[in-house]
Amino acid sequence: MKKVAFHLNGAPRQVEVLPGQSLLEVLREQAKLTSLKDACAPQGQCGCCLALVDGAPKTTCAIPAEKVEGKAVVTLEGVPEAERQLYADAFQAAAGLQCGFCTPGLVLRIKWLTDQDRLLSRGEIARALDGHLCRCTGYVKIVDAVELIHAAKRGGERPRPVRDGGVGKPLERYQGGALSLGAREFVADLDAPGLLHGAVVLSPHARARVVRIDTSRARALPGVVAVATAKDVPGDRWVGIVYRDWPVLVAEGEEVRYVGDVLAAVAAESPRLAREAAALVEVTYEPLPPVLDPAAAIQPGAPQVNPKHGNVLSTTRFQRGDVDAALAASAHVVTGTWATQRIEHLYLEPEAALARPLPDGRLQLYSQGQGIFDDRRQVAAVLGEPEDRVRVDLVPNGGAFGGKEDMSIQAQTALLARMTGRPVRLVLSREESIRMHPKRHPITMTYTVGCDAEGRLTAVRARLLGDSGAYASVGGKVLERAAGHACGPYKVPAVDIESIAAYTNNPPCGAMRGFGVNQTSFAIEGCMDLLARKAGLDGWEMRFRNALRIGDPFTTGQVLEKSVGLEKTLLAVKDAWRSARAAGKAVGIACGVKNSGIGNGAIEKGKVRLVVEQDGTVALHAGFTEMGQGLLTVLIQCAAEVTGLPAPVFRPRVDTKFELGAGQTTGSRATLLGGRAAVDAAAKLKADLDRGQTLGDLAGREYAGEITIDDTTAPGTTRNGKVKTHTAFGWATQVVVLDAAGKLEKVIAAHDVGRAINPQQCAAQIEGSVHMGLGYALTEELPCKDGMPVTFKLRDIGVLRAQHMPEVEVMLVEDPEQEGPFGAKGVGEIGLVPTAGAVAGALEAFDGVRRTRLPMKDSPAARAINVGRIPDADRADWH
Ligand code: FES
Ligand code: FES
Repeated sequence: MKKVAFHLNGAPRQVEVLPGQSLLEVLREQAKLTSLKDACAPQGQCGCCLALVDGAPKTTCAIPAEKVEGKAVVTLEGVPEAERQLYADAFQAAAGLQCGFCTPGLVLRIKWLTDQDRLLSRGEIARALDGHLCRCTGYVKIVDAVELIHAAKRGGERPRPVRDGGVGKPLERYQGGALSLGAREFVADLDAPGLLHGAVVLSPHARARVVRIDTSRARALPGVVAVATAKDVPGDRWVGIVYRDWPVLVAEGEEVRYVGDVLAAVAAESPRLAREAAALVEVTYEPLPPVLDPAAAIQPGAPQVNPKHGNVLSTTRFQRGDVDAALAASAHVVTGTWATQRIEHLYLEPEAALARPLPDGRLQLYSQGQGIFDDRRQVAAVLGEPEDRVRVDLVPNGGAFGGKEDMSIQAQTALLARMTGRPVRLVLSREESIRMHPKRHPITMTYTVGCDAEGRLTAVRARLLGDSGAYASVGGKVLERAAGHACGPYKVPAVDIESIAAYTNNPPCGAMRGFGVNQTSFAIEGCMDLLARKAGLDGWEMRFRNALRIGDPFTTGQVLEKSVGLEKTLLAVKDAWRSARAAGKAVGIACGVKNSGIGNGAIEKGKVRLVVEQDGTVALHAGFTEMGQGLLTVLIQCAAEVTGLPAPVFRPRVDTKFELGAGQTTGSRATLLGGRAAVDAAAKLKADLDRGQTLGDLAGREYAGEITIDDTTAPGTTRNGKVKTHTAFGWATQVVVLDAAGKLEKVIAAHDVGRAINPQQCAAQIEGSVHMGLGYALTEELPCKDGMPVTFKLRDIGVLRAQHMPEVEVMLVEDPEQEGPFGAKGVGEIGLVPTAGAVAGALEAFDGVRRTRLPMKDSPAARAINVGRIPDADRADWH
């Protein structure tokens, strides 16, 4: 231990520092300053842990604590209150935050930046934010917030967030002010008396037999309270959303199936001790050759990856019409293979859980998962306890994008709490997070598509093969969704689709924003461009001629009866498309469709419970989760609109207090279903208010709202002779414009959102999606070698920084959806569905090269971006 003296937020401070301990660890663990977040320690690549050291912004995870001897350290907690309020108001007014995990670090950088006496252009601001990563916003509105702050500091008007408002108003984000300042806790910020800290032991092998797990050295380490292995699991060790094929702890004698498998979990008196003990767990492996290629995995004789299921996880097949005859009669036919890459969600908040035994014998779990009722069901099963013995509280997470649907470490944390009788908090490192959670599928897609002489599509044949990795997750559903959207938003008389999900020993793939539709969109949009050229049409005209309209059949055969806003989105971008081309720019265009609601035969519910509290507020209990998408704000707006009560009256909560289980927050459905349920509950409260009763009179009353959608059909099936695979769809057209050097210049995104409940945050969702889509198109990938990701570095993975973003113009088109609240439909995913296709079209217009693999790193647009540069020395071996 070494004593280090410095000034912290203006006061002298002395701390004892262990060798190698970072300043971030000291500030979070000893000084309990939680505005600094750990998203990538010790990489220093995200900016979440920023502090001012002697007045200069520094990433504290990359600074040894002993280096601040004698220096002055300022964190956001040390900034004067009036100034803090300015930052919070600016971020709220500009809608510059979503999950808020990156925001406190950005705020401190922006404080430093706007304290300089220099007017910065938007481009200069973006470059100044290069040390920061935001996975949610696309940075557009962060730069807006900087401009507001800069102006206010120089005597301009103070930003004024909208504090009240119903549907159609730019109401500020619920808890957004506190989030901006790091004052709203995430799971890793929670504390509890007697808290223990957890750590996990992960497999270094993609496939190996576990011969022996020896925990004796770890148990002997002073400060270690428990070490859990498979033998300690009292209930069912196997979990999973669709199939229970995933062990929370792998047992001796079994195989590990990927590099995120957990062999043991440790609880100790400090995070350092827990990790030290985890490193002392000795596991003897007998390595086995991993199955890494999905095509080889589904061949007869391939080793079976998962003991619960053969290597073909799922097959989706359906046909309509006579494809062979239609192709034979087509004026033009194109055929080709498109391939997409594995994508890491890279939500800024790594997985964390806190479990604590309650005095009444129940266990309370603080989760940041996407389905707290699924968490409860699975954790209770692992513990061998009835579900009512486990209470789960959602702590709105720092981004998820589908990657927190599966459980990560909730069950191991709960087990350690039960074993020790003490609260346990387990937080994954960035590397552990990347190793453990499911990714977006790499899919290989072979398409043959025909059209007539006028460019009207005649037939689509598609064969899809996705690498689903070691566990089912929702991989089969992803490939099913990919199949169901295989023709994109186009009218096709004859279709023949087959889509297979394969188990391999690669990291599991499951849900990620777009759920298989981004992949098929890239392929079908490529086919549209190729056919357009053969038919002598421009890209807009080709798409307009084939655009789905009311009365047309979707890929699955569902006849569209309502809210098909695709044509409106095409018309919205028409002038921009034509004028950019007339100006000699390289321009690409693509359309997109994405289901809103799971559909495909699932019974879906939205449930809300309003409870009038004694203090005159109304608790709004919901089953779906907040993960930065703004759901809680939307629910407030729905309830405020119906009741006429001020928005601040409503206090959302997501926990298992009421039986509001509605499944995962997934499939762009939370606004649709949750919003409908909120409207339903609010109408009941409104009826009482209309009878002249006040909230004071109604204290203690509960109002239940519920909506069920149970009339969808699985692909290839009918109900009463009718196909209805989905309740609602979002539609979009995007245009990508390159500059004279082939770099990204502008994206125009026209989206049919049904009705924008909160137009500002709706546009922000689309901007963030476009950002993710551009990374998908150009720079992002997570290749693996022998089943292990080849990098864990944020910059290598290729998420775009602020300076890489082009101008994004969002056009909100409203074609009301009858089944949605106030006509709204989900926008969580569709924002990046067309993006890669539009980028590919623009690149071809620039250099004549039609690219069919993602990411398109060989392009001038990608080469201009200084992230995502994984060296490809022996890339041929990678999967
Ligand atoms: S830069 Fe320190 S946590 Fe990412
Ligand atoms: S708001 Fe920036 S990472 Fe979520």
